[in-house]
Amino acid sequence: MTQILVTGGTGRVGRPVVARLRDGGRDFRVLSHTRQGTIDGVEYVKADLVTGEGASEAVSGAGGARVIIHCAAVPNFRKDQAVTANLISVARELDPKPHLVKVSVVGAERVPVASKVDRAMFGYFESMRITERAIQASGLPWTILRATQFFELLVIIGRALGKLPVVPVWSGIRFQPVDTGEVADRLIELALGPPAGIVPDFGGPVAYPMAELLRGYMRAAGKRRPLVPVRLPGKAARAVRAGANLPAADATLGRRSWEEFLAEHKP
Ligand SMILES: NC(=O)c1ccc[n+]([C@@H]2O[C@H](COP(=O)([O-])OP(=O)(O)OC[C@H]3O[C@@H](n4cnc5c(N)ncnc54)[C@H](OP(=O)(O)O)[C@@H]3O)[C@@H](O)[C@H]2O)c1
Repeated sequence: MTQILVTGGTGRVGRPVVARLRDGGRDFRVLSHTRQGTIDGVEYVKADLVTGEGASEAVSGAGGARVIIHCAAVPNFRKDQAVTANLISVARELDPKPHLVKVSVVGAERVPVASKVDRAMFGYFESMRITERAIQASGLPWTILRATQFFELLVIIGRALGKLPVVPVWSGIRFQPVDTGEVADRLIELALGPPAGIVPDFGGPVAYPMAELLRGYMRAAGKRRPLVPVRLPGKAARAVRAGANLPAADATLGRRSWEEFLAEHKP
């Protein structure tokens, strides 16, 4: 059996990855900076990927990981880049070198970040681009799956904006959000296969204007708020208005819609 190590297994996409591996009887462990020991039938090994503490032991333990499904992330971009750099550095010590499967974001190579304004709004894409390039240059066998925004992220945005009396909406910008369970299925499929480089984008079934997504959220949350369109300045925003954050024509699309998600998860 393949020994799989999952990082970020308690996060939005990591949770369904872990649930599926457990329910499928796979041989796997989870690297966590907050958990240690067996919880709900899952073995957690404690390591901090920002500092690197415990990472070598986590990756080499139990005979060494053959595949790493990398879902760990931190909000600070520099620290997030360190997370992947530290993981690469310890994974390279293993023989054979493990297959690193990383979930990235659709648009990582298509959203230009050329100014402070771009970076303030869309620096996340630049950071993911840096991380992707570190993986490509790592010498490890690798696969990168670029996914669109997770439904749960849109709920977080809706909840934050719903606290305001008037909700600003980025005009001309669309999102094609996706179900984390479907992303998890695809990540596992890729992890069980050979290293594949950058695979086709993965997105939800429908692209919606941001206003429509927020209206759906507000309706489901029982809130009424006026939406005010705001046109974002900068090159990155222009690229996103042109669809740089949407899945490319050859993308693999999930089936679950935003409406179905909202109906099942009353926000
Ligand atoms: N959210 C989206 O809409 C979206 C869309 C496309 C791609 N992505 C990408 O998908 C990946 C996962 O995103 P997500 O939203 O699922 O993340 P998330 O919910 O924020 O979870 C990240 C996990 O990282 C782990 N972590 C945090 N600090 C750590 C540290 N110092 N050392 C080791 N692990 C640490 C945490 O697990 P422990 O507490 O157990 O350590 C946490 O559960 C990210 O790379 C993100 O860029 C996200």
